[in-house]
Amino acid sequence: MKTIKILSACLLLLPLASCTQMQYKGDAVTEQKVEALLSKMTLEEKIGQMNQISSYGNIEDMSGLIKKGEIGSILNEVDPVRVNALQRVAVEESRLGIPLLMARDVIHGFKTIFPIPLGQAASFDPQVAEDGARIAAIEASSVGVRWTFAPMIDISRDPRWGRIAESCGEDTYLSSVMGAAMVKGFQGDSLNSPTSIAACAKHFVGYGASEGGRDYNSTFISERSLRNVYFPPFEAAAKAGVATFMTSFNDNDGVPSTGNNFILREVLRNEWGFDGLVVTDWNSAREMIAHGIVADDKEAAAQAVNAGVDMEMVSYTFVKYLPEQIKAGKVKEAVIDEAVRNILRVKFRLGLFDNPYVDEKRPSVMYDESHLAAAKRAAEESAILLKNDKEVLPLKENIRSIAIIGPMADAPHDQLGTWIFDGEKSHTKTPLTAAREMYGNKLQIIYEQGLAYSRDKNTAGISKAVSAAQRADVVVAFVGEESILSGEAHCLADLNLQGAQSELIAALAKIGKPLITVVMAGRQLTIGKEAEASDAVLYSFHPGTMGGPAIVDLLFGKSVPSGKTPVTFLKTVGQVPLYYAHNNSGRPASSHFKPLDQVPLEASQTSEGSSSSYMDVGVAPLYPFGYGLSYTTFKFGKPQLSSKELSGKDVLTVTFDLENTGKYEGTEVAQLYVQDKVASVTRPVKELKRFTRVTLKPGEKKNVSFELPISELAFWNLDKVKTVEPGDFGLWVGPDSQTGEEVFFKVVD
Ligand code: BGC
Repeated sequence: MKTIKILSACLLLLPLASCTQMQYKGDAVTEQKVEALLSKMTLEEKIGQMNQISSYGNIEDMSGLIKKGEIGSILNEVDPVRVNALQRVAVEESRLGIPLLMARDVIHGFKTIFPIPLGQAASFDPQVAEDGARIAAIEASSVGVRWTFAPMIDISRDPRWGRIAESCGEDTYLSSVMGAAMVKGFQGDSLNSPTSIAACAKHFVGYGASEGGRDYNSTFISERSLRNVYFPPFEAAAKAGVATFMTSFNDNDGVPSTGNNFILREVLRNEWGFDGLVVTDWNSAREMIAHGIVADDKEAAAQAVNAGVDMEMVSYTFVKYLPEQIKAGKVKEAVIDEAVRNILRVKFRLGLFDNPYVDEKRPSVMYDESHLAAAKRAAEESAILLKNDKEVLPLKENIRSIAIIGPMADAPHDQLGTWIFDGEKSHTKTPLTAAREMYGNKLQIIYEQGLAYSRDKNTAGISKAVSAAQRADVVVAFVGEESILSGEAHCLADLNLQGAQSELIAALAKIGKPLITVVMAGRQLTIGKEAEASDAVLYSFHPGTMGGPAIVDLLFGKSVPSGKTPVTFLKTVGQVPLYYAHNNSGRPASSHFKPLDQVPLEASQTSEGSSSSYMDVGVAPLYPFGYGLSYTTFKFGKPQLSSKELSGKDVLTVTFDLENTGKYEGTEVAQLYVQDKVASVTRPVKELKRFTRVTLKPGEKKNVSFELPISELAFWNLDKVKTVEPGDFGLWVGPDSQTGEEVFFKVVD
């Protein structure tokens, strides 16, 4: 038996302070350069640096403002010739020659598109996130982009919210680990390498909790929840050296993030020591007028800058009104100086002053073989096997024909997912093309779309799909969501499969052939009915450019599913919010409830069940957080603890045996959860604290160990202090958030 020590992987040992120095601390040379430049700048030039515009028109249209030093950053310019032309105006024709910072939303790939971030989170593999970001940075920087607005690390517990697709899901620890890995990938070993791009931790903060799952909506998150649930991924990104932060659109408890002194100055600057650049979201300075916090653009500019914003995205209130707001005494010039220092610091760190131009003649790095291979691996690891009755998967060698059905089987645009400004569907490998390429000469592949697209309600094609399915040994149905059904401003109140997809699955199920349903979507959909009707369900989210070959290899057993749900899957949308790390009520929900139709007519009022549940669907999820099957089976041994009594300074070592008891080599994501039994405030029933992927051959057994510093059990308590409170803790190690034998330890003073 081998022993796995999870020591070297810094990323798994969050908080990261012990192993990763904040990249932005202690660079005296850069500070001198910043001060020297700042001392030469006029007030107008300083405010110009704080202005970000979106690229428009001809170079000449923008060059007047650039020459005057009125633009610090441009987003949405990806033509290297234009990038250089704009940069040349800034460097050679403006008085101080300060280079522009060129930005773009490179969210899950530039040209080579990786699975959506929610899919990447399902891999529980920080290497997938880091590789995806690194490759995105290599491709994007090759056209002159040096700043991306990613990772998005908003804790997302409401699948109605379209932007859940861009997130790493519901869990604080998983989002912290994956977010930090993405920062590392985008920024590389050093920001000033030409292939590094500045990352941006967004949206600070609480955006994922928008009321009703409606985008941009208000949030009401207590300071305790901010500190215990929503801040940690951002603090982890800061510790990983993220160069920039973006404020969020939402107001929390009445204060829009773009004007929120507490989050931007008290927490981000003072507590975390962040000295990078803070940018608003698109137009969010001006949107404080609609929020009703300021009366006009003038006040918006002052409010944002005073709260701690350094750069304004596209709303032009800074350049227009800050000079007069300073004269009127509403903003101090020292505040402007501080903001400009933060911006210049990032530009120096990126090496833009030494190396402002991109090599226009460089051979293309787009869609390099190694990029496609990494994207395929990411898509394989991101797919979750939710059901596999009678081991219908992997497909058996002796099948002679396969029916490929459904609107997502050959949807090269839609499988790429949201935020793919630069991705090209002509490079997408769909499951249909991949199956034909890989198995076309061995099997009969019968294709019928059934429905033209996911929202299609026209059922006319279903009978053809059924007859195609009747002619095949096995039926694989590809359903889900078009990419435009998730992402920014694309929220839904109904999470069932759109259009006539449910009818399609029901019709296919009636035939009696083995039915495998593959779901490509931007969020977890309520697919209970369709899962029930299917023999197997593989949930791939939007898997990106290489989704097709990845899924085909999984179906045929060339690779084995290992993804786990990064969000709780619901039975019905009415269960929102349903997440595993909830606090207990005084009458904790149990799986026992009296179903609605067993309640007698005119029953007298009782507190039957007496638990926090629903009469119609109960409170159990369709699939819990951390869940996912494999083609093989794993057995977890009872966790052994290095000690049953530890102090706040100790490190708990948890060891357990993990055995592959099945027939295939496979990878299990071992997950460690804890519960603080009694504390000064209610604590979650379980919290993920560690995870690791373990690959085992059939029959192989490994002794795995996790190291958990007790300091990581700290939370923001009743006295508003982040501390570990002594007392009893429960601990589980298992394949998901609901399985595993509980063991106990005590923390003493
Ligand atoms: C989004 C941001 C994005 C920005 C720039 C906004 O609408 O909320 O996430 O980075 O646009 O495109």
